[in-house]
Amino acid sequence: MDYTHRFIPAQVTPSRRVLLLLHGTGGNENDMIPLGRDLDPSAAILSMRGNVLENGMPRFFRRLAEGVFDEEDVLRRANELADFIDVAAAKYSFDPQSLIAVGYSNGANVAAAVLLLRPGVLTRAILFRAMVPLTPATSPTLADTRVLICSGKHDPIVPMENAERLASMLRQGSAEVTLRFEEAGHQLVFAEIAEAKKWLRES
Ligand code: MLT
Repeated sequence: MDYTHRFIPAQVTPSRRVLLLLHGTGGNENDMIPLGRDLDPSAAILSMRGNVLENGMPRFFRRLAEGVFDEEDVLRRANELADFIDVAAAKYSFDPQSLIAVGYSNGANVAAAVLLLRPGVLTRAILFRAMVPLTPATSPTLADTRVLICSGKHDPIVPMENAERLASMLRQGSAEVTLRFEEAGHQLVFAEIAEAKKWLRES
């Protein structure tokens, strides 16, 4: 497999959910596990490490500058991640439909790219501080897909308009999108974790 990752089986069987955890720039496969555990203590966890390095910092795709993405690389890496999901589902014996992506920043952006480029691979996603990762060549069909986007009103990296644009792109494909703006910057705040738990309970 092309990714360093951790798989932690569900705490209760059969597992109802598998959380696909995707870190921000400079993170690794360990960083998001406490958040995943907090969101759903009984879920199985598939926690990834981005396979692109930027000055030694793992990421899920290349960027040219802060907020300026190498779209060719986004395309390639999103497809790699989508393919990996199938491999991991077979290896760890879980139903790919039980997967819920939970991404932060660059991890949210690669999850958004998978949603836009490979509809059906992820049908549930929680995207913290996501932005538009690329403009897909064709509009995806995203019926039966639910996405929670939690953005910061004062995020210096992700303008509110960009998060709104991502929400509209997903909604255009008929995804059910909840977009929240927190009194926050790029860092997560308590209220949105509570909101994500509520959203998960309804998934
Ligand atoms: C990051 O630092 O992760 C950026 O804000 C988002 C990205 O580059 O994908």
